[in-house]
Amino acid sequence: MTLKAVNNKAQQEPWTPDSWRAKPAKQLPEYPDAKALKDVEDTLRHYPPLVFAGEARKLTDSLAKVAAGEAFLLQGGDCAESFLEFRPQNIRDTFRVILQMAVVMTYAAGMPVVKVGRIAGQFAKPRSKPDETMGDVTLPSYKGDIINGSEFTAKARIPDPERIIKAYNQSAATLNLVRAFARGGYADLHRVHQWTLDFIKDHPLAERYEDLAQRLDQTLDFMAAAGITPENSQQIREVDFYTSHEALLLPYEEAMTRTDSTTGEWYDVSGHFLWIGDRTRQPDHAHVEFLRGVKNPIGIKCGPTTPIDDLLQLLDILNPDNTPGRITLISRMGHDKVEEFLPPLVRKVKEEGRTVVWSSDPMHGNTVTSSNGYKTRAFDNILSEVKQFFAVHHAEGTHPGGIHVEMTGQDVTECTGGGKAVMEENLGDRYHTHCDPRLNATQALELAFMIADELREVGQKRKEKS
Ligand code: PEP
Ligand code: CO
Repeated sequence: MTLKAVNNKAQQEPWTPDSWRAKPAKQLPEYPDAKALKDVEDTLRHYPPLVFAGEARKLTDSLAKVAAGEAFLLQGGDCAESFLEFRPQNIRDTFRVILQMAVVMTYAAGMPVVKVGRIAGQFAKPRSKPDETMGDVTLPSYKGDIINGSEFTAKARIPDPERIIKAYNQSAATLNLVRAFARGGYADLHRVHQWTLDFIKDHPLAERYEDLAQRLDQTLDFMAAAGITPENSQQIREVDFYTSHEALLLPYEEAMTRTDSTTGEWYDVSGHFLWIGDRTRQPDHAHVEFLRGVKNPIGIKCGPTTPIDDLLQLLDILNPDNTPGRITLISRMGHDKVEEFLPPLVRKVKEEGRTVVWSSDPMHGNTVTSSNGYKTRAFDNILSEVKQFFAVHHAEGTHPGGIHVEMTGQDVTECTGGGKAVMEENLGDRYHTHCDPRLNATQALELAFMIADELREVGQKRKEKS
């Protein structure tokens, strides 16, 4: 069968929220108690949606602007949310750092920044190995709090469907707080900027950031003088903030899939934006089948092992009408591979006339184990991948549309380097992640300032064009 024939076949087969069940699936847990899982799914089906179809459509529209080179995407948050770390302070601090990053980047680029958290649903983790061994004990891997427990005991590692309900409830409470922050005055631009000024004061690289921060300060003062204040301007007082997670645990995603009463289309109302991981993107498998039928904006992780034909086939299946904003390609190559593997993909997608957002995940291709046994990432390698991502897009004449990072608002020691350098020997001090190492608040903001330098150039080119 030719590629086209395969695609047409895929498109002709009717889609239902459970049609993925007939396909092979990678990374899904096997629940020992099928009846308990079914009961949980039936319960969830009657629970309220976490997000609304109209919000997902608005995000698609915003991402269409990114695809057109008129906006930038900032997506960030925990590698994995956890039951243990569920605290209002953690949610607030992550939200705050994302806003700070966004303000710096918006100002530099002179274009809107679309803000999406890896939050309120990011609980299920694909794993490179199905098992974990410690000493002479081997147990199934931890797959995220929505599936099993991270403790290294046989009992904790058994997939437990009750965890799905707990994750749903935590997502609902998280989203409730995020919505309050976004609309209730916490996100006021002046306040966000003041936090950034405070950050700069204490930072060893202060001078490097001073100029941009001061200019932004003057702009806000000017706007206030011209009468644009938080009291009279919603844009200064509030933000649009969206949620996202990897659509890995399909029984959960299926139970959260509903028809939208306005359009009659299917939406997965567990989050605004859903992505397919690097390990579950096989075109004829279950995860792709599920996502093909829901109208949410979709991300596809692209790694050094993504064949170009697979990618085009995925675009055919997931976005047959080439709808702008529907697809974000999240490149996660590794700092030493991006130069080789990204350009051919970017070139081909452009040649084929596919409208996509290109975003850079500089985290997942840069994970290493430190000499003292911690899973970590070097800040310099993260920066290097981002810089090369921008360089590739400049060379190819495409829009470097966004960034996808694992970060937290807490002062953790999980990635090495940065201005307030985290050293290998300090990794154990505050290593709290339940999965991959995250940028701490300082490193995240530092990255935003680096990206701001790149974005100034993007903004400049855009002005020259128009
Ligand atoms: C992730 O984003 O947490 C992840 C597992 O990424 P990838 O699928 O790109 O490895
Ligand atoms: Co991760």
